[in-house]
Amino acid sequence: MTTAPSVLNPDKLIRALQGAYAKGSRRKELLQLVATRMRQAGPPYTGVYLYLLHGAMLELEAFDGRPTEHTCIPVGKGLCGRAVAEARDINAPDVSAETEYLACSVETRAELVVLIRRGADILGQIDVDSDVENSFDEAEEAAVREVADGLAALL
Ligand code: SME
Repeated sequence: MTTAPSVLNPDKLIRALQGAYAKGSRRKELLQLVATRMRQAGPPYTGVYLYLLHGAMLELEAFDGRPTEHTCIPVGKGLCGRAVAEARDINAPDVSAETEYLACSVETRAELVVLIRRGADILGQIDVDSDVENSFDEAEEAAVREVADGLAALL
């Protein structure tokens, strides 16, 4: 079975990250670069939010797209907090079916939360919002996971 290629080119983004790191960019700039470049890929990357974990709180450190009021999310709350509490990525094809969902925009239909991990530690997450249901197939999820791993190595 062949799968469609991902919209996001993870290798290109990771090369950009490594280049920025080599020129002295550190955490905040690297997080912003991921948010900006990912959204530049176009739909389904409508909103890209980078949260880092500080104790039991996820804090929004960079984003591109619609602003969100959810700048601090406790572990366990919303899809973002649940991903950390359960130590797993969450792919929600239809956010209206998620009782714990914290809405950032009424336009959002699907959401993908991929953890940024270093070994057993969870450093944070990449949260992507799309205006279209069922936006993130396996290839897309794998592409975001590659970026999360590439980023983790530089944080
Ligand atoms: N929808 C997320 C909150 C983050 S904003 O969408 C950027 C959640 O349910 O945790």
